[in-house]
Amino acid sequence: MITEPQAPGDRPQDPAPEVLAAFEGAKGFMPADEGLALYAAAVEAARLGLPLLEVGTYCGRSTILLAGAARAAGTVAVTVDHHRGSEEQQPGWEYHDSSVVDPVTGLMDTLPTFRRTLFAAGLEEYVVALVGRSPRAAALWGSPLGLVFVDGGHTDEHASADYEGWAPHIVRDGLLVIHDVFADPADGGQAPYRIHRRALESGAFTEISATRSLRVLRRTGSGI
Ligand SMILES: C[S@@+](CC[C@H](N)C(=O)[O-])C[C@H]1O[C@@H](n2cnc3c(N)ncnc32)[C@H](O)[C@@H]1O
Repeated sequence: MITEPQAPGDRPQDPAPEVLAAFEGAKGFMPADEGLALYAAAVEAARLGLPLLEVGTYCGRSTILLAGAARAAGTVAVTVDHHRGSEEQQPGWEYHDSSVVDPVTGLMDTLPTFRRTLFAAGLEEYVVALVGRSPRAAALWGSPLGLVFVDGGHTDEHASADYEGWAPHIVRDGLLVIHDVFADPADGGQAPYRIHRRALESGAFTEISATRSLRVLRRTGSGI
């Protein structure tokens, strides 16, 4: 059988054109190829009918993709951030953006930009935003998750806490996605790489895809 070539957005693992455009226009740290891999993972995990959880909202760039996949599957994306920025985003550091500093407090505040971004994308209905520290939110969490995307603080303390706090909630066949996994220290910090190793060595996860620094692991066992 001859099938017609499909336009971008026609395949279920690709975002709808308006979701892709909103993602591309959003402020943030997710390159396009890794974003498409995240979206494909979210589509697969969303079939489980459970929430998709993100640690590290920032201005909502990756949240748009999770929300688009959640909308298509009739589920919801949950995103956690204190909105004060990670270490490397503070004034004087490489990833600082002075446009997201609150002139009243003098502190970073990415929440207003995130809310505007999500509103413009038409995806507010499909996102629950938790504002606070990831380990505090995880300590309150008691529901199963279809996907956990770890893209929060990149120190060992934060990455380990994110893994320990959220990964146990991933159901069997659910997905753990980790951003900024660099095997070579010359390419980037090692904390995400260390939780990636830890997840694999636990026997609870099996890697199913790698797109540059974005790794997708499936929950295949217990004992995280
Ligand atoms: C690399 S950015 C996230 C980028 C985003 N996923 C994107 O696609 O643009 C990391 C975010 O994690 C947040 N963060 C860092 N440590 C955190 C913690 N312990 N709890 C909650 N949020 C945290 C920071 O405020 C920052 O917005």
